[in-house]
Amino acid sequence: MSKVKAINHIAVVVDDMEKSLSFWRDALGMELHELRDVPAEKSQVAFLPLAGPEIELVKPTSDDSGIAKYLAKRGPGMHHICVEVDDIHGMLEQLKSKGIRLINEEPRTAADGKKYAFVHPESTSGVLVELYQI
Ligand code: CO
Repeated sequence: MSKVKAINHIAVVVDDMEKSLSFWRDALGMELHELRDVPAEKSQVAFLPLAGPEIELVKPTSDDSGIAKYLAKRGPGMHHICVEVDDIHGMLEQLKSKGIRLINEEPRTAADGKKYAFVHPESTSGVLVELYQI
């Protein structure tokens, strides 16, 4: 059975990256570790690590992405919680077998090699959940 190991990051969807960084980086004083485009998700992400989980800021780079639609519907705010798992394929099979609705049936691979997949909020009490295998 695949296991959840830790909370990896908490993500906030933003409409203005610089404005958001002026809070998280400049006012709170957190270190901006990485700011990059994610073409596959039509978004730009910023990671601000802490001793435990990171904060991820996500901004859409195109009007037709899932993130842009989310932002248009609900405005900026909490977007997803990401948990690290030891075996993402095993976990997706496990969730499917329990009738959990998945957004990604198969894991996607990020530019840095991490595997990720999203679980639909309909099956998670309304919170978008991301699975990560590092
Ligand atoms: Co994320």
